[in-house]
Amino acid sequence: MEHNIKKRSSFSGGIGFVLAAAGSAVGLGNLWRFPYLAAQYGGGIFILVYIILALTFGFALMSTEIAIGRKTKQSPGLAYKTLHKKFGFLGYLAALVPIIILPYYCVIGGWVVKYMVTFVSGQGLSAAEDTFFPTFIGDTGSPLIYYAIFLGFTAIIILLGVNKGIEKISKFLMPLLLLLSVVIVIYVFTLPNAAEGIKYYLLPDFSKFSVMTVCAAMGQMFFSMSLAMGIMITYGSYSRNDVNLTKSVNQIEIFDTIVALLSGFMVVPAVYIFSGEAGTKASGAGLMFVTLPKVFEQMNGGVFIGALFFVLVFLAALTSSISVMEAIVSSFMDRFKLSRTKSSVICLIICVAMGIPSSLGNGIWSHIKLLGMDFLTFFDYLSNSLLMPFVALCTTILVGWIVGPDVVTDEITKNGEKMGRKKLYRIMVRYVAPILLVIILISYSLAQFGIITM
Ligand code: PFF
Repeated sequence: MEHNIKKRSSFSGGIGFVLAAAGSAVGLGNLWRFPYLAAQYGGGIFILVYIILALTFGFALMSTEIAIGRKTKQSPGLAYKTLHKKFGFLGYLAALVPIIILPYYCVIGGWVVKYMVTFVSGQGLSAAEDTFFPTFIGDTGSPLIYYAIFLGFTAIIILLGVNKGIEKISKFLMPLLLLLSVVIVIYVFTLPNAAEGIKYYLLPDFSKFSVMTVCAAMGQMFFSMSLAMGIMITYGSYSRNDVNLTKSVNQIEIFDTIVALLSGFMVVPAVYIFSGEAGTKASGAGLMFVTLPKVFEQMNGGVFIGALFFVLVFLAALTSSISVMEAIVSSFMDRFKLSRTKSSVICLIICVAMGIPSSLGNGIWSHIKLLGMDFLTFFDYLSNSLLMPFVALCTTILVGWIVGPDVVTDEITKNGEKMGRKKLYRIMVRYVAPILLVIILISYSLAQFGIITM
C-alpha cells in the first residue's frame, strides 16, 4: 500500500487539476440541458436558483468528494472502504456509476463527431433535413463507427496517463473551449432581433417559477458538476497536498457555471429568433441534433458557426468522457493492481460490450425495452436518476453522521489553508444535502415515468 501511494500519479499543480476537473464538469449537460432548463423554468430566476445551489449544495458535495480522494489517495472503489470499513459497498456502487455512463456517453460522443465532420466538411445544410438524425442513429454500422472513433480518442488520452494525457490535453482544450464559446456568443449577439432572444433568456419570468424550478436546478447542478460519478474522488486523489482545495472547488464551479451561462446565450436567443418560443421546448438530443441544425440553416454563415459549435461540443464531450474513463481505469488499477494499459483494455472491452446495445437500441434493437426504455435511456436512467443520487446520499450520511465532517474540513485545512464557508459546509453535509438528494432521487424517477414533467 505504501508502495502504491508513492507511485500514484498526480497533477503537476493547481491549474492542471482545476482545468481537468472543469473539463469533466463542462460537458453535454452544459450545452444541451442548461439552456433548455433556463428557458423552461423562468430564465433569470432559474439562473439565480442555480447559482445559489452551486455555491451551497454543489460546493459541499464537490469539496467532500475531492477531499475524500486526496485524503485516501484512492480511486472510488477503495476510497470509501478506507474511510470506513462498513462503507466498502459504496465503493462498488461508486465505481459502477462510471462503468454504466461511459458506454452511452461515448455513443452520444459518436453522434457529435458525425455532426462535427458534417459541418466542418461544409455539408451542414443536409443536417437540417428532418430525416437526417433519425436515419443516422437508426442505422447499424455508421453510428458504431463514429462511436469507435470517439471512444478511440478518449482511450488514447487515458493511455498517455494523468500528466501527459489528461492534464496536458485539458490545459490546451479548456481555454480553447472558452474562446470558442465567446466567439459564438458574440456572433449570436449580432443577429437581427438578438435583444428579444436575450431578454427571453435572462428576464425572470415568475409565472414559470415553482418547486419544480428548484428541483430542475438541483438535478442539473448535480449532473453538471460531475458529482457521484467517482470522478471528483479520482481527480482529488491525483491532486497534490499543497493545492488549495477551497479555491480549486470555487474555480471549477465558476468555470462550469460560466460555460453553462454562455451556452444559454448561444442557444436560447438563436432558437427563439428562428424557431420562436416553441423551439425552446426541445431539449437534449432533439435540441442539439434536430433544432439547432435547422437554426444554423437559417443563419447567415450558419454552416461556419455550426462547425465551430460542433467542435465546441466535441471538446466538451471529450474532456468529460476522459474523466469518466479515468475513474474506471484508476479503480481497476488500484483494486486489481493492474497496469494502466491492462486496465484500459479491460475498460474498453466492457465499454464496447455495453455501447453496442446502446447504439443499436435506436435501430435494429429498438424493439428491446428495459422498463419501457431503450438501452441508452435505461443506462442513463439507472446512473443519473437512481445510482448517482443514492451514492451521493450515502456519502453525505457517511461524512455528515458517521466519520464526521471534520474528516473533510481537516483535510482541506491541513496545510494551514483557511476554509471559507466551513460552518455552511457542516450544515449542508449533515442536514440540507441529504434532504435535497432524497428530493432529486424521487423527482427524477417520477419524471422518468411521466408522473411529473421536468
Ligand atoms: N458534467 C458532465 C456534463 O455536464 O456533461 C457530466 C458528465 C457526464 C461527466 C458524463 C462525465 C461523463 F462521462
